[in-house]
Amino acid sequence: MGSGIAQVSANAGFPTTVREVDQATLDRGLGRIRKFLDDGVAKGKVQAEDRDRTLANLKGTTDLSDLAPCDLIVEAVVENIEAKREVFQKLDRITAATAVLASNTSSLSITEIAATASRPERVLGLHFFNPVPLMKLVEIIRALPTGDGAFETAKGFVEKIGKTAVVAKDTPGFVVNRLLVPYLLDAVRIYESGVASKEDIDNGMKLGCGYPMGPLTLLDFVGLDTTYFIANIMFEEFRQPQYAAPPLLKRMVLAGYLGRKSGRGFYDYSKS
Ligand code: CAA
Repeated sequence: MGSGIAQVSANAGFPTTVREVDQATLDRGLGRIRKFLDDGVAKGKVQAEDRDRTLANLKGTTDLSDLAPCDLIVEAVVENIEAKREVFQKLDRITAATAVLASNTSSLSITEIAATASRPERVLGLHFFNPVPLMKLVEIIRALPTGDGAFETAKGFVEKIGKTAVVAKDTPGFVVNRLLVPYLLDAVRIYESGVASKEDIDNGMKLGCGYPMGPLTLLDFVGLDTTYFIANIMFEEFRQPQYAAPPLLKRMVLAGYLGRKSGRGFYDYSKS
């Protein structure tokens, strides 16, 4: 998601620095942005000069310290509290006291992340949706210590990148995943118990409810591992069966069937 967030920021005119863990991952992310913009130009959806301006606003790095001069930082590392806390501790040390530190977490506690910062009032959640350049929503999450200044900065940023904000309290899943995740998990349960084929489950929701993708296709799109992590975090917090990951989801993750990104999930993407 990091590349999508960087793209919409650069597209809105903000000089944007993308930090990745290594050069190969960075090149892949920047390549993804370039491809999206080139495809957009080919489809007549993006002007060539807008593509060039967006790319000119982007800078890549593998060094977290290069984020020191930034006014707003959106963290999008793996959905793991330790990994996020480590990044926030470092960002807290290297950035200006006025910089706003946001997490793109979908389910972890913003308050717990903020607790690692010396100034927790500048920490909040900015939760984007996949694919970031096309989805119009960003959830803004106010943790208990989030200050009004950080909140207003984040709200202004969301408006400037052309998205609509929904403001949510700091509770696992916020608004969208609180509703979406039990639905996705139920789709796996229905498939696992043999109620219908995967194609029929997907067509049922696409054609019967007008959803752009069926739930199993959406799971492949979001990532089975990501959904599994989110479900576990939500189950841990709420202790309600609708958030419990079905055994099939766990086994697919263990087998490395993570969806599109691994070439195989509920469907086979190895040839695409
Ligand atoms: N540049 C500019 N515009 C582009 C583009 C590009 N490279 N590629 C596509 N577009 C435009 C298209 O022109 C089209 O625009 P119009 O509607 O104006 O014609 C629009 O984007 C849709 O593109 P496509 O027609 O090519 O693709 P599609 O109709 O198959 O839609 C999709 C693709 C947007 C992904 C759609 O299937 C969808 O909305 N799926 C559901 C996605 C979803 O639910 N995301 C949320 C996941 S949950 C999450 O992310 C949160 C979490 O924490 C897990």
